[in-house]
Order: sequence, then C-alpha cells, then structure tokens
Amino acid sequence: MPTLPVDDASSVTTPHPTVDVTTHVPVAIVGAGPAGLMLAHRLARAGVDSVAIDLRTRHEIETTQRAGILEADAARDLVETGVSDRILRDGHEHEGTDLRFDGRSHRIDFKALVGESVWLYPQTDVFIDLADARERDNGRVHFGVTAPEVLDTETTTPRLRFTADDGTRHEVRARFVVGADGSRSVCRDLVPAQHRTQYFREYPFAWFGILAQAPRSAPELVYAQSPDGFALISQRTDTVQRMYFQCDPDEATDAWPDERIWETLQARVAGGDGFTLAEGPVLEKTVLRFRSFVQDPMRWGSLVLAGDAAHTVPPTGARGLNLALHDVKVLADVLVRALGPEGDPALDDYQPQALRRVWRAQNFSWWMTQLLHTAPGATDFDLRRQVGELDNVVGTRAGRTYLAEQYTGWPTRGGDLT
Ligand code: PHB
Repeated sequence: MPTLPVDDASSVTTPHPTVDVTTHVPVAIVGAGPAGLMLAHRLARAGVDSVAIDLRTRHEIETTQRAGILEADAARDLVETGVSDRILRDGHEHEGTDLRFDGRSHRIDFKALVGESVWLYPQTDVFIDLADARERDNGRVHFGVTAPEVLDTETTTPRLRFTADDGTRHEVRARFVVGADGSRSVCRDLVPAQHRTQYFREYPFAWFGILAQAPRSAPELVYAQSPDGFALISQRTDTVQRMYFQCDPDEATDAWPDERIWETLQARVAGGDGFTLAEGPVLEKTVLRFRSFVQDPMRWGSLVLAGDAAHTVPPTGARGLNLALHDVKVLADVLVRALGPEGDPALDDYQPQALRRVWRAQNFSWWMTQLLHTAPGATDFDLRRQVGELDNVVGTRAGRTYLAEQYTGWPTRGGDLT
C-alpha cells in the first residue's frame, strides 16, 4: 500500500478494498467532545489539519447533561479564539458562590477576594458552540462512528480506522493521535500497562442530578452541607434548573418520584433563614458516580492523552471541563511546534504543564468533596469537625481566599501557575 508523506494533508485516496477513504492529516483526534473539538479548533487556527471522531452522535452529546462552570480564562478563550460569543449572551457571570451549612448561607465573594469570576455556561452549550464552529470552518468531524481502531501508536505513522455513519470505511493516517475520549477512554490503555501508573480513588457516594422546570431559587450556586448529605443548587435558564443531592452510588432513579426528590432537596438546604427551593416538574434524573483518576504518562510514542481520558475529577470543584480546556491549550501549541522544525522533543513540554494543574485540581476536588459530603458511617465527631472546617473556610480571610483562588482557577503568570 503506498504511503503518502505525512505532511501531505488533506489528500484522499482509495487504496484498499476494506478502506473506502484514506485521509492524511497531521493530527487524528479520538473523541469529539469539548476537549477534542477545542483542540481541532485551535490546531485549525494554527493551520494544522485534523480529523476527529466520536462513537456518540452529535445529538447524544448535546443532550447529555454535564457540569456548567467555566473559568473566566476559558470563557474568554471561547470568544477570543473565535469559537463563539454566545456565552456573553446566554452565559451568566458569577462573582461568587454560597457555601451553606448549619442552616445558613455564606457567600464567598470571588471578585472581592481574588478579582476573578466564573461563568455558568453548561458543557453542552460549549460543545454546541464548538461543533457549530467546526462545521462553519469545514473541519472534519465524524460523529456516530463504529468499529474504531487506533493503530501503530508506537510508530511515527499512527493510524485510525473507523466506519462512518454512512457505512463508509475510513483510514486516517496521521503523525500524532490524540486520545480525548473521555473518562472511559480506550486510548489510555494503549500506553502499555508496565509503563503506566493509574492513580485512582472511588468515593462511597454519588450525585443524584435533576433538571427541573422551575424558576431560579438563588442568583448564584449554592453548595450545601447537611448531616443528611450534600446538595448543590445550580441553574440553567429562567425556567429550567439543575440540582444535585448526595446519594448512594447504587441508587435507582425509578425509586425517586418528584415528591421524594423535592423533600430530600428541601431538607438538605433547610435552615433558620427560611431558604427554600422553588419546585416544579422534574424533567430528567440521573445518578452520577464519581471518582478521581490520573494516568501518568499522558503520552506514549505518537499518542497523547487530553482531558478526562487522562484525568477525571469529582464534579464538586467544577474543575473537569476547565482542566480539559487547559490541556488542549497547552497541547495545541506543543503539537504545532512538534510538527515544525523542533520535532518530537517539543512534546516533552506537555505533561509537566498539564499535570501540575491536574494534581492541584485533584486535591481541590477531593478537598471540596470531603468538605461538603457526609461519609457513610460518619460519627457525631466527624460531623462537628466538618462544620468546624466549613467555619474555618468561611470565617477566615485565608479560608475564603483559598476557596476563591482554587474555584476560579488559580493565579497565573505568563500562562504558568504561580
Ligand atoms: C452544574 O451546573 O451542573 C454544576 C455546577 C457546579 C458544579 C457541578 C455541576 O460543581
């Protein structure tokens, strides 16, 4: 089979009976969620062509509820790199958040403490903006593919094979393959077991997430701790809200009629200040298990991992999407350099920059999770200690500043963490 040079981007041939279309691009991307698509977008801006594939259809991705908080830098990047400015119209800038315990809310004023804010803009909207931008820019994205194969990642001529949704069989020949295939990544296992470490932590609880048709109950997010467990009050639109409460990982959504859901949520936020939630029909229910995960290394041969494929965090600290977007910001630069005169050594800069932030985020997500959740079997001492810790966080300037700095995404100097 003739092999075209890898820099012969965009050429299309039909060289093999089991392959209908062969495409040559510098970068093949497995996973067309926000990480994969933002990488493709950034590469395209630098003149580097790519093909991205995903097992899920565009509709499936668009209708899967995910977390909703973006760091100000990530929000700015969506606008400034030309993805879309819809976030400025449909997103909501939050200058603080509420921590609620002992029946009272305590506002952490991000703006006053660290001069930063975050944006409430659901991941599904980030995805829609990115998918639209790829379409607008004639980017090559295949949703709903089947039979994907990632081949030869230990060589300098890795390949991707898949069947497109129209039944055509594709082969993509690339110089690099990026595994941005999410928390159930298959790409991560292409790093040989003897050469990788998978750091892993499972939690003894999950989140029961709902979408409800109701007006907003609060102007900003409310993270609530109660002896019965955690609750998070988030928002989506004027008429649809997103809320979560701590539950058992094996909880069945069918066992939760609307009344039981509202009773549980109301009890978790109840307090002397009379705060109550505006109720309405529950439109969607899901149980979200959560875990902490990091794979080291994030690169092997011609394969590089980005986003949830390389690291997963519990959703409590709202770090997941932000970490993924940070990974691909660093990775796009590094790949452009690696494809130029600098060659492969440029890739060595990726993991140290990405992983430092990942471990900070792992710590913060774990910390915020243990701060706000009730561990099964928690004693009275454990519960009182936890309230003591919360009181330390909201009642001291150092505590409030710590939370504000971590939640808004850490101060940087020239792009690097300080
Ligand atoms: C959400 O709005 O879905 C959301 C917000 C903050 C989190 C997690 C989820 O920490």
